Amino acid sequence: MDKIVIAIDGYSSTGKSTIAKRLANQLNYIYVDTGAMYRAVTYFALKNNFINNKKLDSKALVKSLDEIHISFQFNDKLGFAEVYLNNENIESDIRTLEVSSFVSPVATLSEVRRKLVEQQQLMGEGKGIVMDGRDIGTVVFPDAELKIFMTASAETRAKRRFKELLERGHNLSYDEVLENVTTRDRIDSTRKDSPLLKADDAIEIDNSDLTIEEQVETILILVEKAIKKRPY
Ligand code: DC
Repeated sequence: MDKIVIAIDGYSSTGKSTIAKRLANQLNYIYVDTGAMYRAVTYFALKNNFINNKKLDSKALVKSLDEIHISFQFNDKLGFAEVYLNNENIESDIRTLEVSSFVSPVATLSEVRRKLVEQQQLMGEGKGIVMDGRDIGTVVFPDAELKIFMTASAETRAKRRFKELLERGHNLSYDEVLENVTTRDRIDSTRKDSPLLKADDAIEIDNSDLTIEEQVETILILVEKAIKKRPY
C-alpha cells in the first residue's frame, strides 16, 4: 500500500480546494473539503434561526449538534464529492457570502470542532486521502506524510473569490469580499481551539504567482518523495 495522507491548510481562498481536487483525481485519492463541513453546520444554524441580528446562539446550536449529519457523495459530472446535510445536497447553498460571514464564529466552537474532527479522522483511516482546511496538519492528521501550507496575499485571494462569486451570479462588491477574507483570516488564526497555524513540518507554498498546473506539479513531486520516505 503506497497511499498516504495529504494535509492542505492555509488562509481563506488560497485555492486549496482547487489544488486538492486535482491531486485527488490524479492520484485516485479521496478528497475531503473540511471547510464544507463547517459551512454545513453554519447553514444548519441559519436554517434553524440560531443566527439572528448577526448574533449566533451558540448554546442552541451546540444542543442540536446530534441532529446534524454531514456526508459527501461523489458527483461523476463534477468530478468531486458534494456535501449533504441530513441527506439534502447543499453544495451550492453553502457557498454564499451569508454562510461565509458566519462560518468562522461557528468554527470557534469546540463542540462543533470535536464532532467534525472525529468524522474527519475516520475518513482518513484508510489513507489515500487529500484533506483541506485549517487544522488538518496540526490537529486532524498530525502524522500526515505530507503537509502543505498555502498562502497568497489577501488582495490576490479576494480577487479570486470575487471572480468566482460573480461567475456564480452573486451580486456583491470586491470590498465586501476582501473584508470577509481578512475577517475570516483573523478569527481563524486567533481562535483558542485549533487556530490556523503552519505545522512545523509543513511545506509552505505561496501561490500568488503560480498557475494551478505549477502547484499540482510541485506537490506531485512532494507526494513521490513522501511515499519514498515512509519507513514502512
Ligand atoms: O475552506 P473554507 O473557506 O470553505 O472554510 C470555511 C471556514 O471554516 C473557515 O473560514 C474556517 C472554518 N474551517 C475550520 O475552522 N477548520 C477547518 N479544518 C476548515 C474550515
